[in-house]
Amino acid sequence: MTITPEVAAAIQQFRLPDKLGFGAVNAPVMFSAEWQDGKWGPGQLLPYGPIPVLPGARALQYGELVFEGLKAYRVGQSRPNLFRADANCRRMQQSASRLSMAPVPDELFFGALEAVVRACETFIPSQSGQSLYLRPFVFGTESGYLLRNSTTFRFMVIANPVEAYASGTPSVAIERHDVRAAVGGVGAAKTAANYAASLRGSTAAVARGHAVALWLDAASHRYVQELSGMNFFAVIDGELHTPALDSAILPGVTRDSVITLARHLGYTVHERQMDIDELLTQIGSGRCSETFACGTAAIIMPISALADSDNLHKTRQINVVASRLREALLAIQERRAPDPFNWVRVIP
Ligand SMILES: Cc1ncc(COP(=O)(O)O)c(C=O)c1O
Repeated sequence: MTITPEVAAAIQQFRLPDKLGFGAVNAPVMFSAEWQDGKWGPGQLLPYGPIPVLPGARALQYGELVFEGLKAYRVGQSRPNLFRADANCRRMQQSASRLSMAPVPDELFFGALEAVVRACETFIPSQSGQSLYLRPFVFGTESGYLLRNSTTFRFMVIANPVEAYASGTPSVAIERHDVRAAVGGVGAAKTAANYAASLRGSTAAVARGHAVALWLDAASHRYVQELSGMNFFAVIDGELHTPALDSAILPGVTRDSVITLARHLGYTVHERQMDIDELLTQIGSGRCSETFACGTAAIIMPISALADSDNLHKTRQINVVASRLREALLAIQERRAPDPFNWVRVIP
């Protein structure tokens, strides 16, 4: 893909700061392609910066937007690699399908990712746990209030050199009141509406000193769904349990990787309905020894306790199984270990 003088200048001027955080530092380039007259244009690399969007654009008025999150790694390697990008590509197509938006075909998705990663190659941070976070997204650009899909879309990829998302062993707050996603709704799609629905609960959880909210099903407020940006696991009697997917839970790529890897390491993994009160009882009795969350950003986040209002339910161990799985997964992602599942794709 052509590197224009403006893009080359933006790359040349960029300096990687010492402190990266997660999303605080923007890579100096971005990809943009447009859908018009029923087809995608070829797209181009641009310097990172503001974009023209009509105030009436359907993405702004009705949340007609789907996105993805994945990482490029370059730890101790000269060529960067992606991790299960095909799964993110498929999920963005499924998310677009749920909102009946124009899907981004595989070639355009991978072409855009590879163009951005190659342009950013020299400053992909290279310590273990660090990476270049990639955020592909598609949004409806047509202005108007009619409740139907936009006829024009924009597909973009922006990127951020990042540290691993969270550190420490935080508690999470069970959200008993608000609902994030209902069966039949858009919970399984990675779309803005789900995050909007979770903001009040998540903000309140953070204000009370917890990392994030843990969501329950919309119909009975009884069964665990997931966290605002991660899937949930519990270790019960030495076996792994995670909520079974339904149309209200995001099918996490990390969740699927953890299930596959855990089985490979000899763990029994159950995907089932998980009653929150039963889980709290099992934490109390010690049968549930540990809980953790997982997602691309944090990889695996050990959880120290589930907070139910002011009651803190602490597990008897923290980060034992979680750290074993995290290290096994990260070693594959960073190409420090063999990749028996063919998950890693080196960018040529
Ligand atoms: C709501 C939600 N659940 C789960 C996940 C984990 O998904 P993945 O492992 O694909 O990053 C994410 C992160 O993208 C998320 O936003």
